[in-house]
Amino acid sequence: MQKKILVTGGTGYIGSHTVVELQENGYETIIVDNLSNSQIEVLDGIAGITGIRPSFENLDLCDLEKLRDCCHSYSGIKAIVHFAALKAVGESVEKPLEYYSNNLVSLMNLLQVMQEFNIPCLVFSSSCTVYGQPDRLPVTEDTPVKPASSPYGNTKQISEEIIRDTVAAVSGLKAISLRYFNPIGAHRSALIGELPLGTPLNLIPYITQTVIGVRDHLRVFGNDYDTPDGSGIRDYIYVVDLARAHVKAIERLLEDKGEQAYEVFNLGTGKGLSVFEIVKTFEKATGQQVHYKIYPRRPGDIARVYADTTLANKVLGWKAGTPLEDTLLSAWNWEKYIRGRMNH
Ligand code: NAD
Ligand code: UD1
Repeated sequence: MQKKILVTGGTGYIGSHTVVELQENGYETIIVDNLSNSQIEVLDGIAGITGIRPSFENLDLCDLEKLRDCCHSYSGIKAIVHFAALKAVGESVEKPLEYYSNNLVSLMNLLQVMQEFNIPCLVFSSSCTVYGQPDRLPVTEDTPVKPASSPYGNTKQISEEIIRDTVAAVSGLKAISLRYFNPIGAHRSALIGELPLGTPLNLIPYITQTVIGVRDHLRVFGNDYDTPDGSGIRDYIYVVDLARAHVKAIERLLEDKGEQAYEVFNLGTGKGLSVFEIVKTFEKATGQQVHYKIYPRRPGDIARVYADTTLANKVLGWKAGTPLEDTLLSAWNWEKYIRGRMNH
């Protein structure tokens, strides 16, 4: 019998790619999402790729009673992958209570139903934002967590603490937090990807929208950082590689391989790339020119961060292997597909 996995935020960007990978690895998936930042059509995309339409429950995880009803109607859930959260850093500064309430209450409700319905395993979406600007690079999991620079970042730090404390208190409960670096790209089919909502804040969607003509030029935020070419350095990881790490984490939890009940892993490529390197590789991969202008540094940005992924490589048996050119091409193909869809 297929093992049932509940995926919160499963119609979102990373969640939808993970549902595809879980299904392709023989798991049955149940998506819970309130569609606050995603669309129901994502289910068509998933079905188009895998041939299986996942079960879907439109509910807000902050509603404990409805969450209980949901767990009741799907008995035998083996694990939860928890993606659902609000994630806009700037917005979290303006609406801190919305962020604390949504991101923390939903997590606490999940931990509650995990105990009530004997669901033993949790995989949690954390972020490299918990490290701030680290003193040493690459960043290992032992690198000290720095005071969060935004309420969003703080929800990730507090969430990790809530999970750690709950797992320590409840016997039989196990969890893995995955600290993502910068997820980019879309499924090679271009049937799922990141939905463009308003002006993009992240680099890759801004590049693809510039090239397709929605934006006039890319604003490169700073060329005076202490980096080889002066632009900011990040660890960009292909979203499908990232999704595959969740399957590995689920396998580890279900097969009871971990020595500790709570574990944390960095998910990145281990390679730091500058904004200019990304622009050049995008141009090479797609044959398109990226018009850009230099702007002042963006407030709150750090100069550089990239992951040490040794732990995930060794312990999860996972490595991000997709070439950057293929990843950037997937982002471009998704942009073309989504624009075509919006224009019709
Ligand atoms: P996303 O916004 O595309 O997906 C999140 C989904 O959660 C959305 O579909 C939204 O509708 C849903 N949701 C939010 N609050 C909910 C609630 N209370 N009840 C039910 N559903 C709810 O985001 P994403 O990029 O796929 O990110 C997934 C997770 O990964 C988030 O926890 C995010 O903080 C984390 N993360 C993302 C990035 C990134 O760059 N995308 C980086 C690091 C960490
Ligand atoms: C941001 C979030 C972080 C989140 C991550 C991945 C902030 C402060 N942090 O990180 O929490 O986990 O996205 O979604 O918002 N850049 C440009 N021009 C642009 C956009 C970006 O030059 O139009 C540069 C930035 O200065 C940075 C790099 O590109 O050097 C990457 O930026 P971005 O994609 O926004 O990701 P982060 O800032 O790393």
